Formats: sequence, structure tokens, C-alpha cells
Amino acid sequence: MIVDKPAISGFYRMGLQERLEIVKKIAGLSEEDLSKLREGLPIELANTMVENVIGMFQLPLGIATNFRVNGRDYLVPMATEEASVVAAASHAAKLALPDGFIATSTRPIVRGQVQIIGLEDLEGSARNVLSARKEILDEANAYAGSLPKLGGGAIDIGVKAYDSPRKMLVVELYVDCRDAMGANAINTIAEGIAPKLEELTGGRSLLRIISNLATERISRASVVYRRDRIGEEVVEGVLAAYDFALSDPYRAVTHNKGIMNGITAVAIATGNDARAVEAGAHAYAALSGGYKPLSRWRRDEHGDLVGELELPLAVGTVGGATKVHPVAQVALKILGVGGANELAEVMCAVGLAQNFAALRALVSEGIQKGHMRLHSRNIAVMAGAEGIEIEKVAQIMIAEKNIRLSRAKEIIGEIRRGGNSK
Ligand code: MEV
Repeated sequence: MIVDKPAISGFYRMGLQERLEIVKKIAGLSEEDLSKLREGLPIELANTMVENVIGMFQLPLGIATNFRVNGRDYLVPMATEEASVVAAASHAAKLALPDGFIATSTRPIVRGQVQIIGLEDLEGSARNVLSARKEILDEANAYAGSLPKLGGGAIDIGVKAYDSPRKMLVVELYVDCRDAMGANAINTIAEGIAPKLEELTGGRSLLRIISNLATERISRASVVYRRDRIGEEVVEGVLAAYDFALSDPYRAVTHNKGIMNGITAVAIATGNDARAVEAGAHAYAALSGGYKPLSRWRRDEHGDLVGELELPLAVGTVGGATKVHPVAQVALKILGVGGANELAEVMCAVGLAQNFAALRALVSEGIQKGHMRLHSRNIAVMAGAEGIEIEKVAQIMIAEKNIRLSRAKEIIGEIRRGGNSK
């Protein structure tokens, strides 16, 4: 999605309808798309997606603005229940303009694992598997659906032998999933190839499943925040905050949770398996043996703040809920990515922006002030405030440190009677 003016000014201050109109125009949404956004997932469709359905559980869908990644501008749909996340991402993306983020991703390779038990000679069995590599790949690709035709499919195998606590072989199949997340394709391949592996090893196959630690499907994003824009105190503060996360796993988890606030919200909005993404990200953070921050922050030779984020992102733009869920379809249209790699690159940039926003808030005013501002505006709206009343009511409640629905209603009454001129 190429947007002429990525920095849509005051998007958050607009009314819902005005916001929708802007997104409709920029993303070229149809009336049908708008009704999908309004109506959400029909319960009849939900009933075909999971079991024992009794209702719907909805999340707000927000749009993060100002994201420029690899020179392209994006409106980023984010589904989250947490206040401030969308605003923080948008603001951090704005501070990165005009350069924005640089992001890359590897070939979308994910591994499937077949566990083989009941073996006597681990080494001999492993040798038999490895020497039948070509045969295994050919057969695996017969289970790979349209992937080989699209330039993907099973491309390699690996074998691991474990002696304890149980003797077993794990045969791994590396599959290029193209624009799919890959779970369906890989699980089909793993189940399909298992009898062949039993034949080659003389053992019995047990688990045949994708690994959610996609160390071959990595995305990277980087950004430079200029010191004259964000201030020396923020540069120093973010670096000190990063050192805290490097030193202490209890902090690193929260640091990474902030990153995932952004990534997971985009994963959910686009119908992706957010649990798989989360599991992979946290395992990747612990890959060195200690739990570490997923991002890195340093100062460059100009004194500017440089951030980098690297993590496995197995996400798709085809198949699964991305194609079934009407809101995910519209979200993908709004985002306008050409495929899974581009989606992963934008998600990585969002994660980095989210991380910067959190650290910046934490080292300056703290996280609660922004939350309170947003919370008080929400309470004002819930109490019936309209237009300029919203900010006014919010300000008064913050000044009084009394952010409650009943107080908001009183203040609205006072304003409308011309009584509250604070
Ligand atoms: C809250 O959802 C996320 C943060 O805790 C992240 C962080 O501490 O870096 C603010």
C-alpha cells in the first residue's frame, strides 16, 4: 500500500466515521469491505471454525499510522484489547520518519518433525534416512499440495539422534511454505512421509508435527531515531533500559512482551496464529541458553539511537483464518502486503516501534500517564461526551485524579449547563 501522506495528521482525534472514510479511500475499500468491518465474523461461520460455539468474542481493531518500511507506507491493522498500544506504535513510527524502518526476511522455511521410536541401531537408521534424502524429498513433495508448483515445498532433511531419556530419531523436513504459515502443509507432509521413514529405520513413528521454533524463517527490522528529534535523555534512557533487559531475564520478558504487543496485534488482525508466533519468539529469545531481549539498541557515530529486532515470524497471507475471517481479509487489504514475507517485515517493524515507544515512555513520564489519558478519554466517551467535550472531561478527571463514569457524567452535565469552565 503506497500512501501519499503516511503521516495522517490527527488520525486519533477523528471520529470513527471520518477515520473509516480515510482508510476506505487510501486502501480502496469497497462498501462490502466496510460492512465486513462493521459486522465482524458471522456466528454461522464461527460455528464452522471451532467447536461448541455459543457466541462471539470481539477485539477492537485499530489502525497504526505513519509506518514506512523499506520506503513503502503502510496503514497497519492491529487487534488488541490494550489501551495505548496502537497510539504508541503510530507515534514511534512517526518519530522514525522520513526514513522509517528497513526490514528483511529469509526464505520462508519451516521445519516439520517426525519422531521415530523403538530403534536399536540409531546410527544405522540415521544413515539409511540420510542416504534416501532425494527419495524422501520427492515423496514429501507429493504431499505438499501446490507448494512445489509455487517454488516452495520440501527442500531438505535433517536427522537428530537422542539417546536419553529415550532412544529415538527425529527426522526433520525443511519446507519452503511460500505465503502460507505452513502448519497445514507441514503436518500433512510429516504424516504422509512417516510410513516411508518407518520402512527406512525399522522403527515406529509417533509425533509428526510442525516445529513452532522457525529458526529458518527469520525477520529483521532496524531503525534510527535521531538524537536531535528524541533528545539525549531518551537516547541514554533507552540504552540503560536495554542494558537492564540484557542483564535480567525478569526484565527481558517484559521488554519482549512490549515488542509482542505490536506483533501479536497484527498477527491477530490478519488472522494469523498468534500463539505460534509468541511461542517461537520467546523460544528464540532463550536460544542462547539464557532469556534475552529480542531487540538490540545502540548509539551510532552521530550519537543517534539505532534499534534492531530479529525474530522468527511464521505468518501467512493465504490459508487458515486469513482467508476465512472477513475482518482479517479486510485487514490484509488495508495493509496491502504482497505476501507473507512482506507481512513479516511490517510486523517486525511494528514490534521494534512498539519496543521503542514502551522504553521511551518508561524512561520519561512512565507508562501510566499515557494510559490514564486514554482511559479518561474512553470513560468520557462512555459517559456520553461528544466532540471537544471529550478532551475537556478527560482533562478535568485527570486533574481531579478521579476517573470514573459517574464523575464523567456529572462533568458533562456541568459543561452543558455552562457551569464547568475549568
Ligand atoms: C505493557 O503492555 C508493555 C510494557 O510493559 C513493555 C515494557 O515494559 O517494555 C510497557
